[in-house]
Amino acid sequence: MQIPEETINEIRERADIVEVVSQFVELRRSGSNFKGLCPFHEEKTPSFNVNPDRQIFHCFGCGRGGNVYTFLMEIEGISFPEAVRALGRQYGVEVVTREVPEEVRSRNEALYRANEFACQLYQRNLVDKRKGERARQYLLSRGIPKEAWTGFRIGYASDTWDQLVAAARKKKYSIDVLRTLKLVVSSDNSVGYYDYFRNRLMFPILSLSRRVVAFGARTLETDAEPKYLNSAESPIYAKRKTLFGLDRARDSIRERRSVIMVEGYTDCIAMHVKGFGNTVASCGTAITPDHAALLRRVSQRVVLIPDADPAGFDSALSSGAVFLAAGLDVQVVRLETGTDPDTAVNALGAEKFGKILGGALDYLQFLDYIMKDRPMSPREKESVIHRVTAGLADFGDRLRYEVVVQDIAGILGVDPETLRERRKPRATRDTTSDGLETRPSRDAARRVDLEKTLLRLLLEDTPEAVEAREKLDSDDFSHDRSREFYKLLDSTWGNHIDIESHAFHKRAEGAGLEGFAAEVALIPIPPGNLGRLLNDTLRRVKELRIRDELDVLREKLQELPEDSDEAVALAGHYARLKRALSEL
Ligand code: CTP
Ligand code: MN
Repeated sequence: MQIPEETINEIRERADIVEVVSQFVELRRSGSNFKGLCPFHEEKTPSFNVNPDRQIFHCFGCGRGGNVYTFLMEIEGISFPEAVRALGRQYGVEVVTREVPEEVRSRNEALYRANEFACQLYQRNLVDKRKGERARQYLLSRGIPKEAWTGFRIGYASDTWDQLVAAARKKKYSIDVLRTLKLVVSSDNSVGYYDYFRNRLMFPILSLSRRVVAFGARTLETDAEPKYLNSAESPIYAKRKTLFGLDRARDSIRERRSVIMVEGYTDCIAMHVKGFGNTVASCGTAITPDHAALLRRVSQRVVLIPDADPAGFDSALSSGAVFLAAGLDVQVVRLETGTDPDTAVNALGAEKFGKILGGALDYLQFLDYIMKDRPMSPREKESVIHRVTAGLADFGDRLRYEVVVQDIAGILGVDPETLRERRKPRATRDTTSDGLETRPSRDAARRVDLEKTLLRLLLEDTPEAVEAREKLDSDDFSHDRSREFYKLLDSTWGNHIDIESHAFHKRAEGAGLEGFAAEVALIPIPPGNLGRLLNDTLRRVKELRIRDELDVLREKLQELPEDSDEAVALAGHYARLKRALSEL
């Protein structure tokens, strides 16, 4: 639900920040400002200022500041809409909310509902005396007790071809919706459909608002391949932005000021069962900057517990670097060789396991351990360097990047310059006519303009905007500010906050993007079909990105010996990009 812009502005204009703040803080006039003891931190001399002309507050002690809404949100711990309503009541402005467009809502709603239906069916199967017998035995044998079944909404997909299809048909769920979610698939040789998940334990993946967005499905057989089947990506599910267990872990993460990150669904569940409720897992995918951004909102520290095998350590090197780049403090726990968090926590029990957690290594120490643990071939070393630098590519803070690069170069025994060179092509920057930094580009200014138009169109609440967002990632934007602005939009969306312009404006301000945000918002939208316009713009942005990447690759390929491993890998990448271009 959205509160109309005019209402938000009207209430803000009517409200008097001095009056509102005075309900909580004793204020004294001091020049053109008012001063008082900051309500947000302990202090003896007043550094909390309220400016009636600009209707803002700022504390020089703790740095907090904002307008009347921000003040109420912080002091009462309420959301933006709640703050607007509260002030509306106080100042006699009625708040009438506007609904999210029906098309978007109803389409996603149908997807959520179908997943919920399936989840409940799987849950019923699990507790069904006959159907669920083996699955229950299996769970118990792995130390996953009944409370966890309910808590994680674990279920069982029965060993038949059509239980879900038949049940869903009866309840009039649309086949298209079920197919989009890959709950059912069509048979090759006939017109029928059958259940995608059969005879598997079902681990639902929930959004932060606890809606079922996807499933991970584990076989009950010992050596069956694949061990897991996973839901397809859909308008309600993007792997790279989703973490298994985060919905249940969020409060505990905040309380403990740290998040534990494991690789598997079962590892995550086992950790929760043993009392480590601040644990999450990636959904069988590499950690992305989006994951990191998600976690950074709830914690400053992430503790990785990889499976103690080469693959696990490799992935910890990569994901640790991504988290580091996002500004998180990263630690890595080394379990006994060959074990994973699930077996370790079950074998050791909570107390001993807690001690091991206490001995976690900082990321750099872990890297040092990896380098020194055993002699490495140049190729292995190269692979480590590659993992680390790839993860660091998105490093936000340049100064910190420099510091970290020096340290890492020392540990890896290479020249820092080698690492800097490997930082994606964006490290070489050029400047456009308006003085903005961009990545090298065949036609940088045109690309920048298109990106701004795309951002403008994304601000519109249309079904196409929702879809476009699933197809985009921040790397589609060449221009620093477009990229940051997109990330901001994306984090707002990922957080299930309605984009309404005041709250949004505040975030933009926080990110130093207020000028750019205003510029984008003021771009006029040409007449015509909004959806088509958006899709065309999206395609052109993608196209320019791919063309630029092809240019960079071509240049690199020219410098490399033709049959070197790197050249072969790059050529493969080149071909993939070509294909992607033709498929746009
Ligand atoms: N995974 C996957 N598909 C596979 C294997 C693994 O998607 N064929 C993902 C799953 O998200 C899985 C994670 O990778 O949870 C880690 O894999 P693994 O350690 O093999 O799985 P566990 O969850 O630990 O499963 P278990 O302990 O039951 O073997
Ligand atoms: Mn495992």
